[in-house]
Amino acid sequence: MKNTIKILAVAIVMISVISCQNDKKPNYQYMPNMYESVGYEAYGEYSVFPGGMEAMQPAEGSIPRGWMPYDYENSNVGYQLAKDTLKNPIRYTLENEEKGKALYDIYCAICHGGKGDGKGTLVQREKILGVPSYDDVGRAITEGSIYHVMYYGINSMGSYASQTSEHERWQIVQYVEKLKADLEGKTPRIDTDIAVIEEKPEVEAHQDHETTEDHNNAH
Ligand code: HEC
Repeated sequence: MKNTIKILAVAIVMISVISCQNDKKPNYQYMPNMYESVGYEAYGEYSVFPGGMEAMQPAEGSIPRGWMPYDYENSNVGYQLAKDTLKNPIRYTLENEEKGKALYDIYCAICHGGKGDGKGTLVQREKILGVPSYDDVGRAITEGSIYHVMYYGINSMGSYASQTSEHERWQIVQYVEKLKADLEGKTPRIDTDIAVIEEKPEVEAHQDHETTEDHNNAH
C-alpha cells in the first residue's frame, strides 16, 4: 500500500513535469550560439548594411573566378584589332578539336552547317539569310575574328558569350578553323608534341599548317 502511494506520487510528479512542455516553443537552449549564429546570415536583414541586407552586389570592377575580361571593344576597330592580333591560347589537340566540334554542332551548325559551308538547316529552310561559308575569301576570317564574333555577335548572328566559357569558345575557334581548312583543301592545324615532331609525316603536317596561317595573317 505504502509502495503504491510512492509510485503514484512519482508518477504524478513526472506527468506534471512533462505536461508543462510546449511543442510550439523552442526548447531550452544550453548553448544558443549553436542555434543563433553570431555572424551575419547570408540573406539576413541588418541595419548596418546599405539597404539593410547582408547579401550585396559584388564591388564594382570585381571579376568572377575563372573569368577573364575581354579587351577588344564591340566596334569595327575592335573587330579589326582582334582579327589581326588576337591569338588562340589553347593547344590545338585532337581532344580540343573534338570538344569544339561538339559545341559547334550544338550552337553553330544550325545556321553554318556541319561543314561550315553556310548551308545549315535554318538556311535551307530559308529562315535566315546571309550566312557565309567559312572559306569566304572576302571575309578571310582568323582565329581572332572568329572569337570576336562569338563574343559580341555580328549583325543577325547573336553573341555566345553567356552560353559558353572562354575556354569553350577557343575550342570552337579551333574547330571552325579546321572546317575552314577542310573547305580550302588544306591540312587543319594540330599542335604536335615535341616527341612526335621528330617523325617525318607529322613535320610535314606542321609545316602545311604554318603556311596556312601565314596566308591567313596576310589578310
Ligand atoms: C542564327 C544563325 C547563326 C548561328 C546559330 C551562328 N551564326 Fe555565325 N553568322 C551568322 C550570320 C547571318 C553571319 C553573317 C553576319 C554578317 O556579317 O552579316 C555569321 C557570321 C559568322 C562568321 C563570320 C564573321 C566575320 O568575321 O565576317 C563567323 C566566324 C561565325 N559566324 C561563327 C559562328 C560560330 C562559331 C557560331 C556558333 C558559336 C555561329 N557563328 C552561330 C549566323 C549564325
